[in-house]
Amino acid sequence: MWAFTDECPPQGRNDTMRHQHRSVTLWMMLLASTQVLGAAREPVDYNPDTHVFTLSSPHVTYAFGVNERGELQSLYWGDHRVPDDALPAAKPDTGSSSFDPSTGSTPQEYPAWGSAFYTEPALKVSFPDGNRDLVLHYLSHTLSGSHVSVLLKDISRDVRVELRYDIDPDSGILARSARIENHTGKPLSVQQAAAATWNLPSRSYELYSLSGQWASEWHLDRRPVLPSQTVLESRRGSTGEQNNPWFALAPAGTSEDVGPVWFGALAWSGSWRITVEPDIMRRVRVTGGYNPFDFSYRLAPGESLDTPVFFAGYTPGGLGEASRLLHRFELMHVLPPLAPHPRARPVLYNSWEATQFNVNEAGQLKLAEMAARIGIERFVMDDGWFGARDNDHAGLGDWVVSPRKFPRGLQPLIERVHALGMDFGLWVEPEMVNPDSDLYRHHPDWVLNFPGRPRTQGRNQLVLNLARRDVRDHLFNVLDDLLTHNDIAFLKWDYNRNWSEPGWPEQKPEDQQKVYVAYVQNLYWILQHLRERHPKLEIESCSGGGGRVDLGIMRLTDEVWPSDNTDPFDRLSIQDGFTYAYTPGVMMAWVTDSPNWVNQRSTSLEYRFLSSMQGSLGIGADLSHWNGQDFETARRLVAEYKSLRTTVQRGNLYRLISPRDGSSYSATESVSSDAGQAVLFAFLHSSSLRYPYPRIHLKGLDPQARYRLRMVAGNPEEGTPPEASGAHWMSDGIQLLLKGDFQAAAVVLDRVAQ
Ligand code: DGJ
Repeated sequence: MWAFTDECPPQGRNDTMRHQHRSVTLWMMLLASTQVLGAAREPVDYNPDTHVFTLSSPHVTYAFGVNERGELQSLYWGDHRVPDDALPAAKPDTGSSSFDPSTGSTPQEYPAWGSAFYTEPALKVSFPDGNRDLVLHYLSHTLSGSHVSVLLKDISRDVRVELRYDIDPDSGILARSARIENHTGKPLSVQQAAAATWNLPSRSYELYSLSGQWASEWHLDRRPVLPSQTVLESRRGSTGEQNNPWFALAPAGTSEDVGPVWFGALAWSGSWRITVEPDIMRRVRVTGGYNPFDFSYRLAPGESLDTPVFFAGYTPGGLGEASRLLHRFELMHVLPPLAPHPRARPVLYNSWEATQFNVNEAGQLKLAEMAARIGIERFVMDDGWFGARDNDHAGLGDWVVSPRKFPRGLQPLIERVHALGMDFGLWVEPEMVNPDSDLYRHHPDWVLNFPGRPRTQGRNQLVLNLARRDVRDHLFNVLDDLLTHNDIAFLKWDYNRNWSEPGWPEQKPEDQQKVYVAYVQNLYWILQHLRERHPKLEIESCSGGGGRVDLGIMRLTDEVWPSDNTDPFDRLSIQDGFTYAYTPGVMMAWVTDSPNWVNQRSTSLEYRFLSSMQGSLGIGADLSHWNGQDFETARRLVAEYKSLRTTVQRGNLYRLISPRDGSSYSATESVSSDAGQAVLFAFLHSSSLRYPYPRIHLKGLDPQARYRLRMVAGNPEEGTPPEASGAHWMSDGIQLLLKGDFQAAAVVLDRVAQ
């Protein structure tokens, strides 16, 4: 167990027995403490006798203390039922041999690279005299509300690090970040800076992470944590699709419903890195923050560097509960507040797959008229409305309405969209420029570049260097102007390539690598100031799909586009992976045309709708190809969606049957936070032999309450009661009659007033 791991690992039989005995003893103390511990802990506390800090929620306790060397040592992270007297004073490891002295193996909250230290440091600096040794010891602390701040200082030089901790009393999710301050009177260079190191209880784990590529995002990967380091990262300048900055660690055997899970997500939309590694004592550490690759941040005397925030939590309730905690936390504490927008996410129409770049006033008006007929609430015009944008070779950067396509400007279209009862949204990709654009012709120096070197293009575009103040101000002014002169409720903010040649030649050489931090800070600055100037504005974060989804961008955007892959079957696993880290409330999902452009798969309109109704519903089909029956189906399902979307977007998600690993079946259930409504979606890839669809046992219902069954699509087996207790639906379940290929059903259970 965790509290006893500050000793050498067991060497022989007697040691093993002693270790097991102490583990059992602590476990018994934990069980006994459920009765003894009547009073809840304060959210944050400091014991001056033991120098132990605790951060507590009703379910989780996190503890660290100052040890005799002055290091801030990690002590405990897990179930809250740990009595104070089981939280020992911090005591450094004895070290395991002359090769692994105590300074390297003692688990520290924020280890700097210095002394003898062989795992991933949270901080590494270089001083102008060539010295690179940094050893951080406790200096002081403050506590207030649910916040703890601890100041560390190097043993001889005046480098200070303020560690910031917050705990969400509801979910027990912790937020950690650090500020590195240079008081040495000389410049120093920060070569790597993490937001936090998380030390986990001593046991073996499997690591869950999310990976992918364009149009194939959100694969859930699972692998054992081996004695080497596992690196999750982006070197791309933005979050990226290849890895997402989320992790979960759980012992083998942990399921959706049962077993301890430690999980976390980094709130940063630039290059990032999370390392997972056991130390020499086989205790797992997770360290995450700025990606140290090609990183250097010079601090002049008196300057400081803030890291991103790294959120992390613990639950004994399996991977499903870990996701639900994160979802609730994102909805309550990360996303912009719903206050000015009391409704749930609106059902939107997007023109991209229907028209590509071929937009004009008449065509968009026609689509808008048809969209209004099916109950769409937001009409979004995608790429192609500006500059010389007839394809992806030209125009990016010139955010002026094309007079050829919209001779009367955007206003007549917007007015008609409003008259049809919808609000209006517009696509932009502000951070990019086509070399074939007026902006680039006037400001070729505004892009990321190394002078005299090639400028590598992606989708025929270059990346503007947002780290530059003039570029930041230009983009803010252009967008502010667009929003001031047009009644635009929503921006789809796209970003269709990653960085290359990340030079910032206008800076002194020693400051050029600050681009990794300054770019993202200025992106956040623009988003924040646009929101302040236009408080009703909503924004979608899109990066050719799910390339920029993280808790940093989600603080400033209202929804995200998970993938350009709109095939409704592929989407089931894409959406499944997405929900391990992010709430379905922000997961935009379009119904598009069949066969789908990604894979030529044909599916029914109803199947496509049900797949998209698991998130925030949008329509991206070419409505001019629809027949009367299609409009009728769409009108009915959009209306159904509006009656259940609050449950889907803001309720508790249960992943009942996983679509992964070639499964022919998948099912999700969302339960409203008051357990008054449950929405079940079930999908069949293809029937095999005479196997029936698996019986589905619902979860999260009030066992005593009665729920009435309503089929939105599909049929249950004959004899299914129209109304039954929550206990019945959970234990007896429901047998759906799904047969054939690409079939789907949707069921609503509404609590009956008694
Ligand atoms: C990539 C996005 O993911 C698409 O939805 C679309 O907006 C295109 N860019 C437009 O260029």
